[in-house]
Amino acid sequence: MIDEKRHAPATLRNRQPLLDALRPHLPASGLLLEIASGSGEHAIFLAENLPGLIWQPSDRDGEALSSIRAWMADAALPNIRPPLALDAGDPAGWPDLAPDAILCINMIHIAPWPATLGLFAGAGRLLRPGAPLCLYGPYKRNGQHTADSNAAFDADLRARNPEWGVRDLEAVAEVAARHGFDAPVVIDMPANNLTVVFRRS
Ligand SMILES: C[S@@+](CC[C@H](N)C(=O)[O-])C[C@H]1O[C@@H](n2cnc3c(N)ncnc32)[C@H](O)[C@@H]1O
Repeated sequence: MIDEKRHAPATLRNRQPLLDALRPHLPASGLLLEIASGSGEHAIFLAENLPGLIWQPSDRDGEALSSIRAWMADAALPNIRPPLALDAGDPAGWPDLAPDAILCINMIHIAPWPATLGLFAGAGRLLRPGAPLCLYGPYKRNGQHTADSNAAFDADLRARNPEWGVRDLEAVAEVAARHGFDAPVVIDMPANNLTVVFRRS
């Protein structure tokens, strides 16, 4: 039998710091919509450690959806829903959900800018006032890289796809403001990453 589970090694390194950073900002209960769940490993770990939340994973990519389903079958957690096919860049096509929080880990630098625009448009529409949209990943601050390793990563991303690249946090916050989010809480994370929490105004 083919094992459809994908493994992203970084998830093992960042999942515990991510859980610690997110926990104070997430509601204790309710529905969390995860955008771009990838392999599904974060969904399993975070859902297991945040049992009051119902986890709704999603991704645009069919192989990611198969991987999420395969990890879910092994973990057999009661609080994860089957993954949804969801393109962040097409917010009009998002399912009609009323999440209490939205989480998007490591997508906005590995997707064209319209995916970020769509993410905030969709999240701005679905989230009620006060609810969080949490992002994780590398960012520039005021147009500058915060570490040589991020600059090298950015160059590598752009070589793979000129529409990808490490985003400027201020540009992302500007998009967020246009879609009704407050200025973010920014949490420094290991390996020059940030957790960024926007709240719907
Ligand atoms: C680097 S992986 C991150 C996966 C996972 N969040 C993690 O941190 O391990 C980027 C993911 O973004 C997804 N993705 C890229 N563009 C997307 C879009 N427009 N809408 C939804 N998912 C997208 C890809 O399919 C991929 O699973």
